[in-house]
Amino acid sequence: MYNKTLRPQKKVILCEDGTNTLFSEEFNEPYHSTKDGALHESLEKHVKPALFIKKDETSLTILDICFGLGYNTLATIYYIKKNNLKTKIYFISPEFDEELIQSLKNFNYPSEFESIKPIINAISQDFFYQDKQFTIEILKGDARITVPKIEKKIDIIYQDAFSPTHNPLLWTTEFFSEIIKISQRNTLLTTYSTAASIRLGLYENGFFIYIHYGEKSRYSTVASLKKLNSFTYIDMELKKLRNPSASSLKDNNFS
Ligand SMILES: C[S@@+](CC[C@H](N)C(=O)[O-])C[C@H]1O[C@@H](n2cnc3c(N)ncnc32)[C@H](O)[C@@H]1O
Repeated sequence: MYNKTLRPQKKVILCEDGTNTLFSEEFNEPYHSTKDGALHESLEKHVKPALFIKKDETSLTILDICFGLGYNTLATIYYIKKNNLKTKIYFISPEFDEELIQSLKNFNYPSEFESIKPIINAISQDFFYQDKQFTIEILKGDARITVPKIEKKIDIIYQDAFSPTHNPLLWTTEFFSEIIKISQRNTLLTTYSTAASIRLGLYENGFFIYIHYGEKSRYSTVASLKKLNSFTYIDMELKKLRNPSASSLKDNNFS
């Protein structure tokens, strides 16, 4: 599928929230919405909705697809520390760009991550970090190979791959069905994608689909295997009736 050898250089770009992200020549796309901002997007589209829904849990396993600069994992830790939460979190995050992970110790992160710099350094060096509250495990290699091998049951999935147009194999109904195999009864998934094809692929795999309106950011999607009350529900059967030509992405469209 993907080649693990050297990947093209990436350029640092400044987002509108004042935080830095990268632009990938390989995928012809930035790692974050430069308008919403790397840290802001991570907090509003992933961390806050997920931790709000799971606020009563004392321990959680989060699948962060894919690690990249690690904003989603790091922003989760930042948010938990800032709010003095005691939740224990086990992060599992696939990433095939090993050079990128090794370079993270030199990346210019926002000041909010200053106190977690030792965590960034450990991940950058060992692809692993552990203390009493947090464990972070980077799964080296192609997510399509590593995700089906995960043995832990996942509570939260941050789906933050490059866009379906540029990295479709991480958005197909077959990939989502691998995610279902490692999910719990009430697993939820957060993603910036609001595309009908992606929502359909999640719906076909048993997720209820909701719109999430974060603060000062573009709306996003929350998908949950258990019905939720505090989010705007999308009736996917109605969507299908209104848009009969819409379909989910399938592996065989891209291989
Ligand atoms: C949009 S970026 C992730 C952004 C990340 N959440 C962050 O905060 O920086 C997508 C990442 O997926 C990685 N990637 C793309 N396809 C992959 C695959 N098939 N397996 C593993 N990693 C992949 C890329 O190397 C890149 O780091």
